[in-house]
Amino acid sequence: MKQKEKTHVFAPTVIVIFGVTGDLASTRLIPALVDLYRRDLLPERFGVVGFARRPFSREDFRDHMATILKNKKKAITKKIEKFFDRVTYVSGDFHGDDSYQRVSQTLSSIDEKFGMCSNKLFYLAVPPGMYEGIFKRLASSGLTIPCGGDEGWTRVLVEKPFGRDIKTAAHLDKMLGELFKEEQIFRIDHYLAKETMQNILAFRFSNALFEPIWNKDYIERVEIRFLETRGIEKRGELFDSVGNLRDVGQNHVLQMLAVVAMERPHKEGISSIRTERAKALEELASLSASEIQKKVIRAQYVGFTEEKNISPNSQTETYFKVEARIENERWRGVPFLLEAGKGMGQTVHEIVITFRAPHSPAHRNILTFRIQPDEGISILFWAKKPGFDFELDRKVLSFRYKDSRDTKKIPDAYERVLVDAIRGDQTLFASTEEVMAAWKFITPILEHWHSLQLFRYDKGTEGPEI
Ligand code: BG6
Repeated sequence: MKQKEKTHVFAPTVIVIFGVTGDLASTRLIPALVDLYRRDLLPERFGVVGFARRPFSREDFRDHMATILKNKKKAITKKIEKFFDRVTYVSGDFHGDDSYQRVSQTLSSIDEKFGMCSNKLFYLAVPPGMYEGIFKRLASSGLTIPCGGDEGWTRVLVEKPFGRDIKTAAHLDKMLGELFKEEQIFRIDHYLAKETMQNILAFRFSNALFEPIWNKDYIERVEIRFLETRGIEKRGELFDSVGNLRDVGQNHVLQMLAVVAMERPHKEGISSIRTERAKALEELASLSASEIQKKVIRAQYVGFTEEKNISPNSQTETYFKVEARIENERWRGVPFLLEAGKGMGQTVHEIVITFRAPHSPAHRNILTFRIQPDEGISILFWAKKPGFDFELDRKVLSFRYKDSRDTKKIPDAYERVLVDAIRGDQTLFASTEEVMAAWKFITPILEHWHSLQLFRYDKGTEGPEI
């Protein structure tokens, strides 16, 4: 019999989604919440307050959610109708005090129904430029003050990119720190929540085979690829103001690097894993101006400037490649090649580790962690070809999740984000140290960004030909 999943979340909880009509909420959050609800993985007393500018009535918003789900080919079952009943929509301006009053009234009436002060999660699914205004109003409205005692904690979830560079990130972090304690702040990087990213740690630290050779003496290079066939879809305005380096480089790609490069956590527990990820990022060597010219490539796909909400003269990159180094005993001298692009010929998110082969340079072993699609791990090795001559042939040992007999499906990263935020587990969220260390590495590159040539590439290819 299929085992029922559990999340151990019982206390009444309400999630307030800022920007609930936006792209992130529509493509990820609402489908994730519905799926969790459908599988009984949310607290029994659970509510959603959607907050956005559109002047929707409750019915309009219900229709909006139904359309989102139908687009994802999900039938609107009775259970899903019940989920809709738990959602309240508040229309208002994120910068108007009266909107926060309405959110507060809505929350009070939900608490009344639940018969106690519920836990509150504030999810900022809005462009990063809006964070500051929202933080200020959250503070002045008193919405984030917990009820006290055992009832009603409050937590905030913020999306990446957190800030535009190290200075703006530090400023935002200071504001956030005045409002919340670190244990209330959940900085999302949904790549940390991907099952296959967590599997890298399981693989590294639970298999004695690789740990002794996980260093510069045996590893020649590490390649991290974040290639997507998708373009920028409906996110033109946001993407044009952010670019791919901030959109996925400062966060997802560097977190992929962190889990490969980090040391084994000394102790069990959340802070230990986050500390080790942060240390790996802090040890990234800052690139000097001349290194940036040599080790960084930026490019834009042809046709980008003709897309909706993109400035016709836009110099925003849709592709980048950076050669990074980590200055510590384990990794000194090993290049970490970070590459990410939109509009590419294939979608592949993977980490490829090439081992040294001093005695037989043509026969390197390669270990690949495939984050998606086709999640799994493979090892390229060499074997003798059958016959009278001594010839070698490349072979692959591989594990693919889809071939495994495990009946549990790979959890969606946003489902994991939501469940962990509700149960208060910060392991798969970025700490302030990680965010700052990532910006410390990225900011000098951004400062020299416009002195670098912007290469072009055709959509559907492997990127710029240089
Ligand atoms: C988001 C980026 O955080 O991650 C997008 O903003 C990117 O640009 C996306 O496409 C990739 O996530 P996933 O889960 O679809 O691989």
